[in-house]
Amino acid sequence: MDQDTLRYGADTPLARRVVAMRSSAVRDLLRDAQRPGMLSLAGGLPAADQFDVEGIERAFAQAMREAPRQALQYGATDGQASLRESLAALMAQRGAAVEPADVVVTAGSQQALDLLARALVDPGDRVALERPSYLAALQAFALSGARFVTVPADADGACVERLVADNGPAPKFVYLVTNFANPTGATLSLERRRALIGWALRRRVVLVEDDPYGELRVEGVAHPPLVALARETPGAAHWCAYVSTLSKVMSPGLRIGFAVLPRWLRDAVVRVKQALDLHTGTLVQEVADRYLRSGRLAQRLPQLRATYGARRDALCDALGARFGDSLRFGRPEGGMFVWARFTDGTDASALLPAARDEDTIFVPGAAFYDDAPDPSALRLSYATLDPGQLAEAVERLARAHRRLRAGNPTAAAGLEAGAAAGH
Ligand SMILES: Cc1ncc(COP(=O)(O)O)c(C=O)c1O
Repeated sequence: MDQDTLRYGADTPLARRVVAMRSSAVRDLLRDAQRPGMLSLAGGLPAADQFDVEGIERAFAQAMREAPRQALQYGATDGQASLRESLAALMAQRGAAVEPADVVVTAGSQQALDLLARALVDPGDRVALERPSYLAALQAFALSGARFVTVPADADGACVERLVADNGPAPKFVYLVTNFANPTGATLSLERRRALIGWALRRRVVLVEDDPYGELRVEGVAHPPLVALARETPGAAHWCAYVSTLSKVMSPGLRIGFAVLPRWLRDAVVRVKQALDLHTGTLVQEVADRYLRSGRLAQRLPQLRATYGARRDALCDALGARFGDSLRFGRPEGGMFVWARFTDGTDASALLPAARDEDTIFVPGAAFYDDAPDPSALRLSYATLDPGQLAEAVERLARAHRRLRAGNPTAAAGLEAGAAAGH
């Protein structure tokens, strides 16, 4: 892809760390996703048809009616006090008793990841990640000069045993998506959560737990977040940072994320945030707070989970029916993503252009690896298409796969040239 490196880097005074940045394959694919007729399995976008437009509109009107001068004014760097209270209440529902003073409101959880990296990482410091990992976290950490150490992930999340067994220099922090990870859909087991906390305390390593998808559980039982489990072990909470967002359950356009941090780290992150953007937008915070206090999020979650559950089933059933043994995948208990691997030697990056010809796209797994990518892997998102569209997208993917296997990777060269000409 021509977006892989910045094209003008060599002729400009751009900083080396910026020239070295890879453009996100996912963001590049967003352009394709907007093409008419495209059925995209690529984006990590939440379902726009599920946005509570009416409820959010009401919260906006309320904020402007009740506190216009506060909502339009500068605000505190750590966030509006009332929203921090609401987020502490949200954390209580997730099983973690935290004080509003432990919460920092950020511009999406992406900013929380950036702030944490800036607060913790000196250039060359080691950061441990599961392999594969959320791409934009890799980008944010790399900008702070992190060097990556990776451990594989399986159906129970990151193989924590590998971290525990490694007697080399300890990383500055470990970054993990603990529920329905992006991209693998895997959830970190309770046993591994406990092992991780004991290890972090022993080795003095910060645990950065990123949890945007936990509320989107469609089956099974939730495990407590690390910040909650850490309270069982004296001293362990000192090492636990929790990051989450309203993006996946309310709206990503609002850009409201948050971090729950031990006091030493909270103070450092607030100092860094002051330098970066002073504070997150006051008006959107006032809106988010009123929305959370209205109870509509809690009321709507069952419907949201049912919608995603039906979409997950439609995608997994169609993949099973169309690909049989040639594609292996797990059925995630929630979230938005299915991670799959071809067992017939298909290279997912080679399949993408053929799929694009058929008007469907996905993200080749290679995009989620810092090194040694698995060429057979792909990430499929079921969030934005309805069950009928998901079945059709899988039909298209299966056609592209058949053509690629038959040595006719482009539609023009294959038997379906006539059909493709109309696209
Ligand atoms: C694992 C993970 N973390 C963080 C984010 C960032 O979300 P936001 O900045 O919208 O809160 C995403 C978005 O896709 C994600 O998948």
